[in-house]
Amino acid sequence: MTNKQEFKINDVLHRSSKEEIVDEIFQGLSKKDKYISCKFFYDSLGSKLFEEITRLPEYYPSRTEKNILKKKSPEISKYIEHKTDIVELGSGDCSKISIILSAVDYSIRNSLRYIPVDISISAIRDSAAVLQERYKGIGVYGISADFTRDMGFIPSASKRLICFFGSTLGNLPAEEQTELLNGLKNIMKPGDNLLLGIDMVKDSEILESAYNDKSSVTAAFNKNILNVVNRLVNTDFDTAQFEHLAFYNNKESRIEMHLRALSEMEIYSLHFPEKIVVRKGETIHTENSRKFTYADISKFSLLTGLNVENVFMDPNKWFSLVQFIA
Ligand code: TRP
Repeated sequence: MTNKQEFKINDVLHRSSKEEIVDEIFQGLSKKDKYISCKFFYDSLGSKLFEEITRLPEYYPSRTEKNILKKKSPEISKYIEHKTDIVELGSGDCSKISIILSAVDYSIRNSLRYIPVDISISAIRDSAAVLQERYKGIGVYGISADFTRDMGFIPSASKRLICFFGSTLGNLPAEEQTELLNGLKNIMKPGDNLLLGIDMVKDSEILESAYNDKSSVTAAFNKNILNVVNRLVNTDFDTAQFEHLAFYNNKESRIEMHLRALSEMEIYSLHFPEKIVVRKGETIHTENSRKFTYADISKFSLLTGLNVENVFMDPNKWFSLVQFIA
């Protein structure tokens, strides 16, 4: 029998109305360069496919970040004191946070509180359950929020280690990257730490194969966004009429993901003011994944006033875990 422990979830998420969602999707599809926001990737199938991506042989970022964590957790755990709050932005499957927690002394570990911040309440529940099963003494306080705007809800009474893994920062537009780091800097007090995982610029062949896996899981993930949109706004996209396109844009230092139309089509929705025409070969831009350099880390530090305490890297220098202090 499992001994279910109690945990609290504070739900502060602003949920968009149907009209706002329709408007956002219609606007994106009406542009000369069509796009759909990457936030629409994550229905339950999308989340499952994403987890599968993180285990693909070609997709090195998750594995590499975990290897850095394994190697550096003794060093990182030195910054975790009695009663520190461990905040994780985008709670994921807690495999990364677990690596850090395993390196913390038992007596300190039992005094800690885990604070997952995520849009999805079920993601918070799942990670809380796994974590409390694994480390019985740890408290959990979940926050259902959009961490790009609601970070003021993160409790501030204790010392905090804020973790933002998976190079998710690189999925945001450049202005929002700095805005998010500025926001974190503003809530951080002396003694607080920020651990930021970022994927680094490297050979474009390695980058491109990570987003074009042989088993086509990334393609399925990308196409699934059309099913999510169909359900949300009653469009009639046929995923079979699109192909997955992912390439490295050297000038912008980013992987771009698009869906390319295999034929000309008209997309209808009773909620749209007019039909959307998609030409053969036209692409719908679905996501960017920015790759960083050491100079970007310095630039973030300069722009936000956050100080770089450590940069932990794998031997190939493919991925960085940057430790910032306020
Ligand atoms: N942030 C990671 C990256 O950009 C994970 C990720 C987000 C991802 N969206 C994705 C990976 C789409 C593959 C496809 O790599």
